[in-house]
Amino acid sequence: MQKLRKATIEDAKNLFEWRNDPLTREQSINTEPIIWDDHLAWIQRNLSNPSRQIYIFEEDGKPVGTCRIDKEKKDGQDIYELSWTVAPPSRGKGVGKRMLSSLLENSVLQGQKKKAVIKEGNLASEKMVLHFGFVKRFEADGLSVWFKD
Ligand SMILES: CC(C)(COP(=O)(O)OP(=O)(O)OC[C@H]1O[C@@H](n2cnc3c(N)ncnc32)[C@H](O)[C@@H]1OP(=O)(O)O)[C@@H](O)C(=O)NCCC(=O)NCCS
Repeated sequence: MQKLRKATIEDAKNLFEWRNDPLTREQSINTEPIIWDDHLAWIQRNLSNPSRQIYIFEEDGKPVGTCRIDKEKKDGQDIYELSWTVAPPSRGKGVGKRMLSSLLENSVLQGQKKKAVIKEGNLASEKMVLHFGFVKRFEADGLSVWFKD
């Protein structure tokens, strides 16, 4: 049984632990450890940001990952950037692919241009986007940028 639900302030601790996990930090743009008070302020700010949706993916009632939709406008077109992290103990078991599959079913994304930015060497994320038909458009500064219509 799986469910993708909106994150709440109750998820702050899990999100903090997953974000500060060494592999998550390594694969993030900002690799510095996050401080709890900053994290809490970030969550409070972002739960009410209409351009950003933060989700928790649950399997059998247990939170196993998080993903995000960030809406931006480029040359007058809406682009929805997707990003994700799987809880460290749940990695390598297909959770990432199941979570992205569920995210892509979100009504907000239907008919919209989706984007993902992936650090060089993040093979699991590359396999995830390839599986769902994203196409790599360019690479720069150790990052690859992928799109799906
Ligand atoms: C990237 C991440 C989300 C992948 O989630 P996951 O649940 O471990 O991935 P899955 O088990 O669904 O595997 C997806 C694919 O990657 C492969 N894979 C998983 N871990 C891998 C690894 N360490 N190295 C290479 N391939 C890997 C799987 O075999 C699968 O390939 P397939 O399509 O050929 O079957 C997870 O490792 C993670 O949270 N990493 C840290 C944060 C991060 O990188 N976020 C993304 C930033 S873009």
